[in-house]
Amino acid sequence: MNTKFWLVVPAAGVGARMAADRPKQYLRVAGRCILEHTLDCFLDHPGLLGAVVCVAPDDPFWPQLVVASDPRIRRADGGRERADSVLAGLTTLIQEGAAEQDWVLVHDAARPNLAAEDLHRLLESLATDPVGGLLAVPVRDTLKRVGGDGRVCETVDRSVIWQAYTPQMFRLGTLRQVLDQALRQGVTVTDESSAMEWAGHQPRLVEGRADNLKVTRPEDLHYLQRIWCSR
Ligand code: C5P
Repeated sequence: MNTKFWLVVPAAGVGARMAADRPKQYLRVAGRCILEHTLDCFLDHPGLLGAVVCVAPDDPFWPQLVVASDPRIRRADGGRERADSVLAGLTTLIQEGAAEQDWVLVHDAARPNLAAEDLHRLLESLATDPVGGLLAVPVRDTLKRVGGDGRVCETVDRSVIWQAYTPQMFRLGTLRQVLDQALRQGVTVTDESSAMEWAGHQPRLVEGRADNLKVTRPEDLHYLQRIWCSR
């Protein structure tokens, strides 16, 4: 099956924990910036209908990238929170003629190491799903609940805990409506799935690779440099 999909890449964050001179998606590793690596994970896929990259309104870096002139990619103004940026991206897709029933994948700009096999598995697993879902990874380590004093209160049952990754895949119209309602009502939305859950849906988890990491700290860049340059 060749599932067709639109792509939204929220890239309007600053990435303060990287403590760099520019937003983390514009840091270079293995010869290109993170956002270019991230878009590369999708641009060769035959199911891609088009993409929106959501960047800060005054972002001076995006127009300098070669990929910014790819005819399949639109730019949208990102918002205050990640969810505002995603909503702006979804609205842009509708304005570009995308249908409410179409699938949309939302993928963090800061996750440049998405494996082709994971993207394929997500699309295949959810192609006929009534809700949609997301790539996720079962937690590996023992989990502790911590008190205000920095001491362990309890050990949490990890057998039912998964880490939510991206891409997250939902029907465009439903996701847009749900995100819009959740934001209007002041709900904290940390990923698309949490908005869908708030609206009463049960997104499906599709197990992915743990190395689809979100670049958050300087050591993540060193890790990517090492694995990409040793291939
Ligand atoms: O900050 P964090 O790494 O959780 O952000 C996840 C993704 O959301 C990043 O790709 C970031 O650029 C994006 N984001 C956004 N708009 C915001 C905040 C974050 O597009 N206001």
